[in-house]
Amino acid sequence: MDVDGAVCIVTGASSGIGAATARLLSTRGAKVVLAARRIDRLEALAAQLPGSIAVQTDVTKAAEVDRLMTRTREAFGTVNVVVNNAGQGLHVPLDELKADDLRAVFELNVVAPLVVMQAALPMLRSSGGGVIVNVSSATTLQAFPGLGGYSSTKAALNMLSRTARMEWTGAGITVSSVYPSVTASEFHEKLRAGHLVTGPWSPVPDPPELVAVAILFAVQHGDEHVLVADPPRSIQLGAEGASALRTGREPTHEAPRGDSSKGPPQLDGPS
Ligand SMILES: NC(=O)c1ccc[n+]([C@@H]2O[C@H](COP(=O)([O-])OP(=O)(O)OC[C@H]3O[C@@H](n4cnc5c(N)ncnc54)[C@H](OP(=O)(O)O)[C@@H]3O)[C@@H](O)[C@H]2O)c1
Repeated sequence: MDVDGAVCIVTGASSGIGAATARLLSTRGAKVVLAARRIDRLEALAAQLPGSIAVQTDVTKAAEVDRLMTRTREAFGTVNVVVNNAGQGLHVPLDELKADDLRAVFELNVVAPLVVMQAALPMLRSSGGGVIVNVSSATTLQAFPGLGGYSSTKAALNMLSRTARMEWTGAGITVSSVYPSVTASEFHEKLRAGHLVTGPWSPVPDPPELVAVAILFAVQHGDEHVLVADPPRSIQLGAEGASALRTGREPTHEAPRGDSSKGPPQLDGPS
C-alpha cells in the first residue's frame, strides 16, 4: 500500500515506537490518528504532524476503542491502516510470574489488539480493504529465560495475526506482524514487573525509528512476518525465524534504510 494520503491509526503513539511510526507515516503523506492514554503527549505530537489528530484512548476499554473509530470516521471518513503497537513488558522468571500481572498484560498485548482490529473492520471492509500491522516481539522467535510471561502474550498475538490474515484476505485486508528486538524507548522503565533481561547477548538497543521503518515496510509490502533489522527482513516462523534472529537473512524486498546512527542493529538481543 502507498501510505501517501492513507488514514493510519497508530496505538501507543505517545512514545517510543508508536511516536516514531506516526512521524514516519506522516512524512510519507499519511493522515495519522494518534491513540494512547497520555493526551498531552498526543496533542503535542499532532501539532507537529500535518493533518493528524489525537484521540485519547485506553485500548483495553472497548468503549474507548469504539470512540477512536468514531472520531476517525468523523475526521477522515474511513481508515486504511491500523498499527496495533500499544503494549507492555513482563520480564520475570516463571516462578515469580504473578497470574494477575500476566492477565493484565494479556489484556493489553492480546485482547486489546483483537478488539482494535474488530472495531476497525467495518471501515476497512467498506473502503475495499487495508492493512493491519501488529507489533510483536523477537522474543517469540525462540525461548528466553525470564521472558516467558511477555513472550507468551506476543506469541498469542502472532497466532491472532496469522489467523486474521487468512480470514480477512477475501476482504482485501492484509495482516502483518513486525518483530522488534531491544529498542530504546520507555518500555523497560514501564515493565509490568521485572527488568531488562541480560544474557549471553549484548543488546545494543535499536532506535525506535528503525522499528518504524520495518512497520512502514510491512505496510508497503504486506509481508506476513517482518524482522526489525537494517534493512527490515521478511522471515518465516519456526527454525528459520530463530535463525534469522541470530544471523539475519537476505531481505526479500528492497527496503528503506533506518535512521540508526549506531551502525547495524544487533539481532541477538531480544525484548
Ligand atoms: N522496546 C522494546 O525493547 C520492544 C521490543 C519488542 C517489542 N516491543 C513492543 O513494541 C511496542 C511499543 O513499545 P515501545 O518500545 O515503544 O514502548 P513504550 O515507549 O513504553 O510505548 C508503549 C506505548 O503503549 C501505550 N500504552 C500502554 N498501555 C496502553 C493502554 N492501555 N491504552 C493505550 N495505549 C497504551 C503507551 O502510551 P500511554 O501510556 O500514553 O497510554 C505508549 O505509547 C509494544 O507492543 C512492545 O511490546 C518493544
